Amino acid sequence: MTFVRVCGLSELEEDTPKRVELDGTPVSVVRTEGEVFAINDICSHANVSLSEGEVDDCHIECWLHGSRFDLRSGKPDALPATRPVPVYPVKIEGDDVLVSLTQES
Ligand code: FES
Repeated sequence: MTFVRVCGLSELEEDTPKRVELDGTPVSVVRTEGEVFAINDICSHANVSLSEGEVDDCHIECWLHGSRFDLRSGKPDALPATRPVPVYPVKIEGDDVLVSLTQES
């Protein structure tokens, strides 16, 4: 599993998603509830950036139609989205946030 640095931990504001690109894949990096999560930045319902949505209760909400995706599993908990969004493993090394594009689920 190859981990790549995507940003500094100190660059992440609590509950404020940061969009990064990793090998051409858009990824939303989210610091919340004492952890850092990485989720594909494209909603599974339409081509919308999830990093423009709000974070609450370990979920990220799509701003367009309101589906909420669990940052741990990528699964939506409300329609209209029915398919999960890929989530990726994250490692923290010092101030470095590293992500692997290997899917966790
Ligand atoms: S585009 Fe995300 S829920 Fe419709």
